[in-house]
Parts: sequence; C-alpha cells; structure tokens
Amino acid sequence: MKPRLIALALAAATVPAWAQDALLARNLAATCANCHGTNGQARGDIKPLAGVSAGRIFAMLTDFKSGAQPATIMHQIARGYTDEQIKLLASHFAAQQSNR
Ligand code: HEC
Repeated sequence: MKPRLIALALAAATVPAWAQDALLARNLAATCANCHGTNGQARGDIKPLAGVSAGRIFAMLTDFKSGAQPATIMHQIARGYTDEQIKLLASHFAAQQSNR
C-alpha cells in the first residue's frame, strides 16, 4: 500500500461512527435531489421531503418498496435501498429545513 493510501485509511478509521452515518446519509440523499430538490426542498409538483418526519418518510418508502403504495417510479427506486439505508435517508430529510 502506498503511504498516501495508508494515511487515507487511517483518517477514515478515525472518523466517528455518527459522522460516517451522516456522510453516508448525505451521499444517499444526493440521488434524490434531481427530482425532490436540493436537500429535499422540492419546487413545483414534486413533494418536498425536507422537514417531513423521519417516521413518515420511512413509512412511505417502505410502502413503495413493498408495493403497498402504488407509484410511477418510487417503487423501483425504493427497492434499491435496504431498510437501514431508508432509515438514514428518512432522518437526513427530516433534519432539513422545509421550504414550504
Ligand atoms: C426520477 C425522479 C425521482 C427520484 C430520483 C426520487 N423520487 Fe421520490 N418521488 C418521485 C415521484 C414522481 C413521486 C410520486 C410517487 C410516484 O409516482 O412514484 C415521489 C414520491 C416520493 C415520496 C412520497 C412523498 C409524499 O409526500 O407523498 C417520498 C417519501 C420519496 N419520493 C422519497 C424519495 C427518496 C428518499 C429518494 C432518493 C432515494 C427519491 N424519492 C428519489 C420522483 C423521484
């Protein structure tokens, strides 16, 4: 391993678990921005996610995933995430400032 890679590996190992979760949540949430807006602050017809309670977002996403809630696209998107990742997404968007 090159010294730079070792330094990177050591730096990664010292990031606390909560910070890693926050970074992972932010990265996962970035894939939603095209449709639901930056930080979930959607404009126009798409529903914003910012400021919606984590429990509600989790329930909606797991309903899309299971097919209990029919959708045009979200059932396919939701299937790409584990329940653990959906929890991270839900708490990330719940913590964002609502724009509506
Ligand atoms: C390609 C566009 C697109 C992307 C990307 C997308 N969504 Fe959606 N989302 C939609 C549409 C359209 C709906 C309305 C339901 C449907 O028809 O699928 C929706 C609905 C939702 C709802 C229900 C909102 C409500 O109040 O009814 C949630 C929650 C949601 N999306 C979360 C997410 C999350 C989290 C991501 C990222 C992992 C994401 N979406 C990525 C288009 C998108």
